[in-house]
Parts: sequence; C-alpha cells; structure tokens
Amino acid sequence: MSNVRICPSILNADRTNLPSEILKIAETADFLHLDVMDGIFVPATTFTFEEARGIIANSTIPVDSHLMITNPDEVAKEYALAGSNSVTFHLEASKDPRSTLRAIKGSGARAALAIKPTTPVESVFDFLDDLDMLLVMTVEPGAGGQSFMAEMLPKVKTLRKIFSERNSPTWIQVDGGISLATIQMAASAGADTFVAGSAVYQAKNPGEMVEELRKLADFALEA
Ligand code: DX5
Ligand code: ZN
Repeated sequence: MSNVRICPSILNADRTNLPSEILKIAETADFLHLDVMDGIFVPATTFTFEEARGIIANSTIPVDSHLMITNPDEVAKEYALAGSNSVTFHLEASKDPRSTLRAIKGSGARAALAIKPTTPVESVFDFLDDLDMLLVMTVEPGAGGQSFMAEMLPKVKTLRKIFSERNSPTWIQVDGGISLATIQMAASAGADTFVAGSAVYQAKNPGEMVEELRKLADFALEA
C-alpha cells in the first residue's frame, strides 16, 4: 500500500477538455488539485467560483482545492460546501485562520493552510491543532512550470519533526516543481502529499507518471 498522496494539478492541463484530462489520471491519482487564482492574491486568474463548483461537481475523484485568493475568510467555506474533499487557503491572505479552518471543517472538508516561500514556518505554529494538512509552497504561487525551490525543505523537515513528536496525523503537502527529479528530496524531508502539474500533464502517459512519482516518493519515505 502506498503511504503518499499524489495530486495532479489541472492548471496546465487542457482546460477546454477537463473531463478527458481528469480521466487520464483518475485511476492512479488520489486527488485532483484545483488551483483557484483571483488576479489579486496572485496576478493570474484561473477559475471563478461558479467554474470551480462545476469542476468539483463533475470530478470523478476527490478534489483538493488550493485557493490563491485574497478573501479566503469569506469564501473558503463555499468551496467545502461545493464538495471539495480538502480546502487550502493562504495564511498570508487570512485575518482569522483559525475561524476559517473551523468553518471549512464544519462544512465537511479537510482544512489546510498554505505558506508562500517567503513566509516563515513559525507563522503556522499557532494553528497546528486545527490543520488536517499544511501546504509548503515550493515555488512562488501563481504559475505552473517553475523550478522547485529546495531551500523550502527545511520548513518541511521542521514540520515533520513536530508532527512526529506529537504523533499528529496532519499531512504535509508540497506544491511547485515536483517531478521525477525532485519528489524524492521532498519525501525524504517529510512531505507525504505531492502536487504535480507539468510533470504529470506534459508526460506522454499522465496516469503512468502518477504511478512513477508515487513509487519514488514511497521509496524515499521508507528509506
Ligand atoms: C502554482 C500552483 C501549482 C501548479 C504546480 O501556483 O499552486 O499547483 O499547478 O505546477 P507545477 O507542478 O508545474 O510546478
Ligand atoms: Zn496549487
């Protein structure tokens, strides 16, 4: 059995044909990673709430919504109510992370916080008890296809140490530049949940690429 979760991001998939893009990874992936960008928190825009709701409703696998938006305290809960299995919002955009995490959970989804590369890991310490998952960004959020920032791995190591000491089931996710070349590094540092956009959707066979990534991560975790 695999101990890791692989979450393909459809950011750079063919968005005009999402059902068939999702089908390519449905057998092998754990979650569909849905990147919501509002043009304010990050320069790009991807999906409106209505569009996201349609994707969530039609996805044949559980959806991991990653909100790169400026007002998560107001709307994160709506993504949970829309049927996301997991909702992640950015610490940098929230005035009251604890209430928002609890609102997500109260609406039936797993609740997660994300931190950008410049945000120190200590800034999440107050919220550890309310987290189902913590996302350590390994690129600056906003676009797919960027290079993995290995200098983020000390954050992952710190979190893994804390979660192990507390016997905490909280997942540690990494997002940005995850590929066959980088996933083992991230897994060895203690990540157990991996977003991969271009690595999966630029592969000849996206479904098989998910399995390749999973093998490497499981191997690194066992080592
Ligand atoms: C970036 C997004 C990522 C992106 C990852 O802001 O949060 O989920 O799709 O793409 P790759 O795997 O190509 O770095
Ligand atoms: Zn993402």
